[in-house]
Amino acid sequence: MRLRRNPQAIELLTSHPLSVTDYAARQGNWKELFANPHPIYVELGTGKGQFLAKASTIYPEINWIGVEKIQEPLLLAARKGEETGNTNVRYLWMDIANLQEAFSPGEVDRFYLHFSDPWPKARHYKRRLTYRDFLKAYETLLSPSGDLILKTDSESLYQFSVEELQETGWDIVEQSDDLHQSEWAKTNITTEYEEKFSALGMPIYYLRAVPKHTEL
Ligand SMILES: C[S@@+](CC[C@H](N)C(=O)[O-])C[C@H]1O[C@@H](n2cnc3c(N)ncnc32)[C@H](O)[C@@H]1O
Repeated sequence: MRLRRNPQAIELLTSHPLSVTDYAARQGNWKELFANPHPIYVELGTGKGQFLAKASTIYPEINWIGVEKIQEPLLLAARKGEETGNTNVRYLWMDIANLQEAFSPGEVDRFYLHFSDPWPKARHYKRRLTYRDFLKAYETLLSPSGDLILKTDSESLYQFSVEELQETGWDIVEQSDDLHQSEWAKTNITTEYEEKFSALGMPIYYLRAVPKHTEL
């Protein structure tokens, strides 16, 4: 559901203790912000933040960052994160196109793409977040043992993603066209969109991929 515009959202987000709006100032020093050397996992297109609130509670030894370009859902996400009381989660207001200005090469240990916009029209393929230019940026920013996790309800985005990953030299190390019936269901943390699609009886496509240079 589209959120109503909140004219105060930018101001509220800028002053929220868990939000980061000056992303360029954080490049290369995220671990200092968290004040620990723990791995950094980044959810791209975090929406209202259900996944991050749960993940940061279940895995306190990970530093979690949600990236979102629209301020209203990100504000809700930051408030949800604040309610958990967790100190290992931050909310980054930014377009994913600027990822390389917010992180240094090797600074991220995992990227999550959860229910990204499928951009179904053929002429919009470069906007899909698994288009090769995006994959190149993720690869640059990932640590030597880093990986990428994708979940989607869209078969066409899934197939496009598999092809782009294979053609740009990634290894797909886990894969399912029905995540909730697979061996990875037990450890899966559901997102808001995932629960919606799943309730409609739709299967969830899943993959985990590593750049070829990665130490498995
Ligand atoms: C379909 S929602 C999924 C939300 C959440 N990940 C989930 O699974 O419930 C996709 C989200 O990605 C955000 N998004 C799309 N393109 C983006 C971009 N280029 N930069 C940052 N956020 C983006 C949208 O604003 C939206 O909130």
